[in-house]
Amino acid sequence: MRKKLIAANWKMNKTPDETRAFFREFLPLVAGHTRDEIVVCPPYTSAAAALEAAIGSSVAIGVQNVHWKADGAFTGEISAPMLLSLGVTHVIVGHSERRQYFGETDDTVNLRLKTALEAGLTAICCVGEVLEEREAGLTDDVLRRQCVRAFHAISAKKAAKMTVAYEPVWAIGTGKTATPELAAAAHAVIRREAAEVFGEEFAAGLRILYGGSVKPDNASTLMAQEEIDGALVGGASLDAKSLAGIVKY
Ligand code: PGA
Repeated sequence: MRKKLIAANWKMNKTPDETRAFFREFLPLVAGHTRDEIVVCPPYTSAAAALEAAIGSSVAIGVQNVHWKADGAFTGEISAPMLLSLGVTHVIVGHSERRQYFGETDDTVNLRLKTALEAGLTAICCVGEVLEEREAGLTDDVLRRQCVRAFHAISAKKAAKMTVAYEPVWAIGTGKTATPELAAAAHAVIRREAAEVFGEEFAAGLRILYGGSVKPDNASTLMAQEEIDGALVGGASLDAKSLAGIVKY
């Protein structure tokens, strides 16, 4: 059985003060919840506040990106050793907003994923098609390409700490959710690709999250799908009650 993971992607939202306020409200709502793993990914500037606020709880803290070099002249970037020294355990890589707005490519996603895993971070690698690709019947090809390129030169041993998030771009922040069946079909494509690269046994244990307009009222139908091993939640994760509602689908 794959334990489900509910991951909150706060994107560019919440100051340290707002982060502390969120945790004051959120932690009592999920106290004692052990069925699923929970990780909250604030902006870098609120990671320390989140880590401190989450002490003594079962909520893990991640961030939303990582550079592939340990240090150097890379203005605006953050390295894996920096994250580790802070106590961060999770990182999102390859989010579609990074790909769409900040020039992230399959190659840089691969470098970031590889680096995160080698550093011992749990990496949530995002893949997903845009609307035109879905309408052109290219979804499976796109997912296969993104996975093959992201997984390149990573060993199954290192990939043990990898989670994949299927996030159809047309469902992100739009209120449109993939039907559970459609998401499950995409997850199956990703799992097959993981089996090709890392072997059947690995693929059977790989967690694949769904992301794209997950809300408290659609979480239970999505999570009921055997293929869906959790959720990557954007907008609905900013409110403590709403995220707790999703955790308790
Ligand atoms: P959303 O975002 O839940 O606001 O659609 C999901 C994501 O981008 O990870």
